[in-house]
Amino acid sequence: MKAIVVTPGQHGTVRMDDVPDPEPAPHEVAVSVLRVGLCGTDAEIADGLFGEAPAGDRHLIIGHENVGVIEDVGRRVRGWRRGQIVVATVRRPCGRCFNCGRGENDMCTSGLFSERGIRRRHGYMAQYYAESPAFLHRIPKALANVAVLLEPLSIVEKGIDHSFRLQRRFLWKPRTAVVLGAGPIGLLAAAVLRIRGLDAVVISREPDSDPRVRLARALGAQYLSAADRTMEDLQKEIDPIDLAVEATGVSAVAFDAMQVLGPNGVLCLLSVTSGRTKAEEPIDRINEMLVLGNRVVFGSVNANARHFTMGINDMAVMEKKWPGVLERLITTRLPWTKYGQWFGAARHGIKTTLEVGLV
Ligand code: BGC
Repeated sequence: MKAIVVTPGQHGTVRMDDVPDPEPAPHEVAVSVLRVGLCGTDAEIADGLFGEAPAGDRHLIIGHENVGVIEDVGRRVRGWRRGQIVVATVRRPCGRCFNCGRGENDMCTSGLFSERGIRRRHGYMAQYYAESPAFLHRIPKALANVAVLLEPLSIVEKGIDHSFRLQRRFLWKPRTAVVLGAGPIGLLAAAVLRIRGLDAVVISREPDSDPRVRLARALGAQYLSAADRTMEDLQKEIDPIDLAVEATGVSAVAFDAMQVLGPNGVLCLLSVTSGRTKAEEPIDRINEMLVLGNRVVFGSVNANARHFTMGINDMAVMEKKWPGVLERLITTRLPWTKYGQWFGAARHGIKTTLEVGLV
């Protein structure tokens, strides 16, 4: 079959290749891939900064944001049928630690987990993949066209879910949330926070005319441009920040965010930054603010099955509340043979997908 692969650790090796067809075990299903989404992690893998091939292979099939349709059902599989639209999770358990043993692979403590399309396991940028249904989620037909957003949404669901869980440490009545960054993660976070009943403020660098800004406003969020203002200036226009989600991809912004959080506030960091940037920071001030204000800062990666389920439910709510808004997040749908238009060039728009199966 055809697949889009890289040689991990090397820059600029993305290519479409012929690879062996997957061979589903009796307890697995074969899924025909419909579409994959592209994100910063794919770009970093293509730049050789991230990613690891499965044992015994030099190449890695990339792609982790996915949607497909079941093509074949193994003879030992019950309750799944051909034609079912599915989204697969990304991380697979290490087989050793307590958390992976209980389905919380996203909280693996051994570091020996694998991630499809990222680390030690082939991904979904291929015509087919084989998988155990334990790692699949059924997608209602009405969401099929936007279901490729479920994996990034699961990241948001986990970050917000964990923020609420952390804040059970006291009586928390959050009102104001700030989202830093207006990419797919930032906009999805704004949507989930609105659904949870919070006032959401999206802060990013785009000018008012940008489609991201229109989308943020369509979700009922306030938009503030950070193009010519510091975070400290912006903070003056906002009520005390109870919950902040950082999704700009810039670590300096994470440190700025720590300094504008309201009393008892929680900051969830979602950006994976594989650079080596160094900066001077006011560490006494940051430490004092965290201590004297009971503030929490935490990082969050990946998501488990529960968060995918929350994402499916929230997608249905979003479609009802703001019809068509999820579709508007997908600004470019490329035939997958044109993958070079995204990997090799300046990127525009919000989410780009590769439409697979169109060789
Ligand atoms: C993926 C996560 C993954 C993380 C780190 C993100 O782009 O969405 O599933 O855990 O990268 O590899």
